[in-house]
Amino acid sequence: MDHTTVGIIGGGPAGLLLARLLHNSGIDCVVLESRDRAYVEQRQRAGILEQSTVDVLRGSGAAERLDREGLVHDGIELRWNRRAQRIDFPALTGGRRVWVYAQTEVVKDLIALQTAGGAPLLFEARVTAVAGADTDRPVVHYTHQGQDKTLSCDYVVGCDGFHGVTRKAIPDGACRTFERVYPYSWFGILADVPPSCDELIYAHSPRGFALHSMRSTTVSRLYLQVANGTDPADWPDERIWDELDARFALDGGWRLERGPITSKAVLPMRSSVTEPMRWGRVFLAGDAAHIVPPTGAKGLNLAVSDVVVLARAFARLQDTGSAELLDAYSDTCLRRVWRAEHFSYFMTTTLHTDPGQSDFETRLQISQLDRIAASPHAAAELAGNYAGLTIE
Ligand code: FAD
Ligand code: DHB
Repeated sequence: MDHTTVGIIGGGPAGLLLARLLHNSGIDCVVLESRDRAYVEQRQRAGILEQSTVDVLRGSGAAERLDREGLVHDGIELRWNRRAQRIDFPALTGGRRVWVYAQTEVVKDLIALQTAGGAPLLFEARVTAVAGADTDRPVVHYTHQGQDKTLSCDYVVGCDGFHGVTRKAIPDGACRTFERVYPYSWFGILADVPPSCDELIYAHSPRGFALHSMRSTTVSRLYLQVANGTDPADWPDERIWDELDARFALDGGWRLERGPITSKAVLPMRSSVTEPMRWGRVFLAGDAAHIVPPTGAKGLNLAVSDVVVLARAFARLQDTGSAELLDAYSDTCLRRVWRAEHFSYFMTTTLHTDPGQSDFETRLQISQLDRIAASPHAAAELAGNYAGLTIE
């Protein structure tokens, strides 16, 4: 049976960055990823990197292309009641900002580094079970090239996303999951058209939420709030653009450029936190431990902060023999996780229209948005959370 110090399950952003950080500290690890490389590199997901994520990628040597191609954003625009308000991040946070650089690109950069001399990374290696989480030698069972295999580890880290198998290694009763499912979804599109704005637009409207984001100076990424269970086939391109136009409309006019739509997908929205993020020698990181609704752009950034805390703890163990940071991992991460959960919930419930929403509740949302426009303190609270806290 093969052996490694840290067995990493999942080659998404969490698993790949953890492998990079451990490799940089001279800690032996192996990444097992169930999908093939092309699938992992093309999976459309997040697009916003907060300041600390960029700092970490730079520090780990994975930001060369990000620094060339990433778009620095110093704010976002909020829209409601047919008016717009810019939130200026550096001015409100003492200089913090965000980058538009797609998760697909972060993943490609990390894979390229890992295959060019990093830790072993196996694609199409599907983990079926993790055994012995409460022993000194947990064992990962996986299938690769049609064969059943096993990897014994000093530690196992589940970076295998919300539907992964690692969480199942923790017995019922040893952890608790807190959850909320939202009564709406996002309909996301990619379009070959230059963005109609310089910064992201988050729009509240009586017809529901809309978000204008981008992937580059030539590709736009847009999202519409839709009912759960919506079938993209019911949304021909004209209908999508007309609906976006209606939701972004401003008094005084505003023009949304249209172009060929190259991708359509419906994403359900959920908040979920599993506590603690560790049991025995098995750790959970990223979406395997927690999910946020995407309105706060926090999912990918939380995955990064988890593995930074974990990599530091493994390095301390290796250098000094002390497990103190490893023992503190779950508590350290959960403080940041719950802050991001609250912010994501706040952004989601302030900007979306619940199907059963009363006019009273809509007035409360408008009042909250008016407050953000009128009060630098309220705006700074939003900006600080969006641009992201420093990693503890
Ligand atoms: P993942 O990226 O999910 O990676 C987990 C990896 O584990 C995957 O590669 C998977 O193939 C692998 N895996 C799973 N099971 C096994 C197994 N049994 N064996 C081996 N490997 C396995 N966040 C935002 O901020 N903005 C967004 O717009 C946004 N959009 C999203 C859209 C979707 C459809 C989803 C699912 C998430 C979105 N997110 C978004 C959240 C963000 O993309 C995630 O928070 C981020 O991907 C978390 O990274 P991760 O590495 O923890 O998990
Ligand atoms: C994007 C996704 C988000 O969830 C968000 O809040 C902002 C931008 C994006 O995909 O570009």
